[in-house]
Amino acid sequence: MRHLALLGSTGSIGTSTLEVVRSHPERLSVAALAAGRSRDLLRAQCESFKPRCVSVGSKDDADWLRSSLSYQPELHWGEEGLLACALYSGADTVVAAVVGSAGLASTEAALRAGRRVCVANKESLVVGGALMHDAALAGGGELLPVDSEHAALHQLLSNRDPATIREVRITASGGPFLDWPLARIQTATIAEALNHPTWKMGPKITIDSATLMNKGLEVIEASVLFGLAPDQVTVTVHPQSQVHAMVGFHDGSYQLQVCANDMKLPIQYCLLYPDKYPGPVAPYSWDQARAWTFEAPDLERFPCLGLAFQALKEGGTAPALLNAANEVAVAAFLQGNLGFWDIQACNREILNHIPAAPLASLAQVLDADRAARRHAEGWVQART
Ligand SMILES: NC(=O)c1ccc[n+]([C@@H]2O[C@H](COP(=O)([O-])OP(=O)(O)OC[C@H]3O[C@@H](n4cnc5c(N)ncnc54)[C@H](OP(=O)(O)O)[C@@H]3O)[C@@H](O)[C@H]2O)c1
Repeated sequence: MRHLALLGSTGSIGTSTLEVVRSHPERLSVAALAAGRSRDLLRAQCESFKPRCVSVGSKDDADWLRSSLSYQPELHWGEEGLLACALYSGADTVVAAVVGSAGLASTEAALRAGRRVCVANKESLVVGGALMHDAALAGGGELLPVDSEHAALHQLLSNRDPATIREVRITASGGPFLDWPLARIQTATIAEALNHPTWKMGPKITIDSATLMNKGLEVIEASVLFGLAPDQVTVTVHPQSQVHAMVGFHDGSYQLQVCANDMKLPIQYCLLYPDKYPGPVAPYSWDQARAWTFEAPDLERFPCLGLAFQALKEGGTAPALLNAANEVAVAAFLQGNLGFWDIQACNREILNHIPAAPLASLAQVLDADRAARRHAEGWVQART
């Protein structure tokens, strides 16, 4: 039986994780739940799963939970609460599903404490880079990727001699603007950018999918997770989202990983690894007629992907700078304070104007993150 601490339980990945838990009552239980502002949903989740440790965004909401729950778990709030859940002694497996670099410290702490950490929070790998591996190595933690492309690569690369591998390719659906001309993309509205054709996700990652920044973050994530050189990771656009990743070998052949585009599959892969049991997703059906297409991404219409390749090549704190700028720009876009095309302009500004430093410690990365945020916020303010 695995006992989970689920960080970000009220989000898209969090609620899918709880569906996977419901399908495996004899293998999975919930020891801790942490969320931000969705206190009603968190309360309902607590009543269903009875975690012994719970954290919410603010002290007020923690007090409200204390008085409205039918039982008395340990109650925490804020950043410290997230850490308390990540380190809760009753949990052996942590699902890191908070959005943004807010998830960095708890992911690192859980790895350092020797937990199995199922990382959906790609920002912590992009920002923390090799420091996450160092934390896992120091504490004996195990890092498993929840992102569908990276769970696919984990399956394709397990027990493979790295010397046989020429490149890996992660697929991109292309998002809602795949076939749009540049001029129309430049003036896209919030509603248009939130209308993803194949995946249902939280708002930040949905906007990142429309700019292809999500794919850029995933390229960096793949390089960090699997120790690949920058020119060994690339992207193929595959609008059907059925092939999730491919590994190319030196002899010119490829292996592909295929499954339904449902996040419950990679989540279950990580939670039950290395076992495979029937779960909430039906087996892939090959009897239905379907066509798959593949094409190269267009970096002119989707410049955020090019910026991510640039940050990966620069290395050090460059990915952290890009990620922080992007978090600020996407939040401003979702609040109606920035146009869609301004997101890439803000990201370019920060990446090109703040010098990257070598990756030395978590504290130094967090400093770079703060500096980039300040600069990006100033850029956004000057624009509005
Ligand atoms: N959704 C997907 O299909 C998908 C696929 C692959 C990877 N990912 C990655 O998984 C992560 C989560 O994505 P998502 O789509 O599930 O996002 P989401 O739906 O926006 O959910 C985010 C979760 O994080 C919580 N949260 C945010 N800030 C917090 C803070 N400071 N302290 C505590 N909790 C906080 C939110 O709580 P409240 O709602 O209660 O405020 C919510 O539970 C992201 O890094 C994303 O890139 C997502």
